[in-house]
Amino acid sequence: MLQKPRGTRDFLPKEMEQRRDIEMRLRKVSGKWGYREICTPTFENQELYTVRSGEGIIKEMYTFEDKGGRMLALRPEGTAAVLRMYVNEAKVLSKPVRWCYLSDCYRYERPQKGRYRQFWQFGAEQIGADTPEGEAEIILLAYEMLKATGVTFTLHIGHLAPMKHLLSDLPEDDKKAVMALLDKKNFEDLKIYLERLKKEELYDSLKSLIECETIDEALKICGDMPGRERMEDLIRILDSQDIEYRLNLGIVRGLDYYTGMVFEGFADNLGAENQIIGGGSYRLAHLFGGEDVASCGFGIGFDRIMVSLGDFTPKKAPCVAVVYTPETASYAFSAAKKFREGGITTELNILKKGIAAQMKHAAKTADYVAVIGQREAEAGTVTLKNMESGEQKEIKAEDAISEVR
Ligand code: HAM
Repeated sequence: MLQKPRGTRDFLPKEMEQRRDIEMRLRKVSGKWGYREICTPTFENQELYTVRSGEGIIKEMYTFEDKGGRMLALRPEGTAAVLRMYVNEAKVLSKPVRWCYLSDCYRYERPQKGRYRQFWQFGAEQIGADTPEGEAEIILLAYEMLKATGVTFTLHIGHLAPMKHLLSDLPEDDKKAVMALLDKKNFEDLKIYLERLKKEELYDSLKSLIECETIDEALKICGDMPGRERMEDLIRILDSQDIEYRLNLGIVRGLDYYTGMVFEGFADNLGAENQIIGGGSYRLAHLFGGEDVASCGFGIGFDRIMVSLGDFTPKKAPCVAVVYTPETASYAFSAAKKFREGGITTELNILKKGIAAQMKHAAKTADYVAVIGQREAEAGTVTLKNMESGEQKEIKAEDAISEVR
């Protein structure tokens, strides 16, 4: 038996109904904030991802050469392609641009629960507003979207400025290595690394920075620093709004394009792969041939939201199964058409089964059965049975529509 590729999943109808239900909730919120949906290609020129992150990123991506010898990559995330698209379309766009997307992404990772090789991100990007108001909007939007899904989560909001300020004396390579260890929360190796650099005191400062609960506490550790006012303005706006979060100046983010504000959210009921959102402020447009424009955004890990929510039954329109005999087939097809025109999900027997077998199948799939025998066909009626209550009555097909709805 052929199997699906490692790290991918199939979704049965029930799961798709659950996913669509949550997607629609996310779309509804982003739409209300003026974020309009876009779509970019599933694959891009590999260069789009290596130009910022270097060739190292290739080992985490699905890359391939096409028949024309072009090096392509399946998108590992949404942001780079959105900014590429922005640069391509920029001339006609009035800023700020507010876009959102639901994209499948591909990463060559070791699969486990909540970590897949094909997964979906619901992202939002806001391009061209270099302000704390813009950053606050992105965070508040993310918060409202996560709330709308029903997950319980904790939002951590941070800023790279204090950490970068602490690390400002380190050579670029060491800075990157230290930040990578911090991102992985690998404090043991971080301590060893800093000891080797003879920077033991940095370890203590970094540990205290991570524990800071206010910007004032951070300033005591780092001293005054560039970006301080901006951080304070953002926190002031957030604190004036109805949002629960904790300040976390230890957030580093795995992707390396972030420039200032960063944030992450964690589902309260998930284990190892509990990060359900990541985002922040970044600059990418200039790397793709555009002007250097400030942007911010986030990606919600859609699949992890679904894992966190577990099983549930989304509200769905009732379904009618039309049960008929060979003699009443044409009347049954017409009645089914009428039901569908009335907005009702309708299925009918296509297996040439007898009435009893049709009823047995309908008991599993439908909320109502419309039985059409000879008498009903002649009278222009159906015998409508409510499969839950067992009640049944013979009525005109048109009346059955309002009865089911
Ligand atoms: P990211 O943190 O790499 O950020 O991914 C965003 C979210 O996608 C993660 O928080 C996680 O929930 C989910 N995710 C990542 N990898 C996997 C995986 N292998 N399986 C399942 N879910 C996964 C970004 O990608 C940025 N583009 C976010 C952003 C947008 N920043 C600014 N704008």
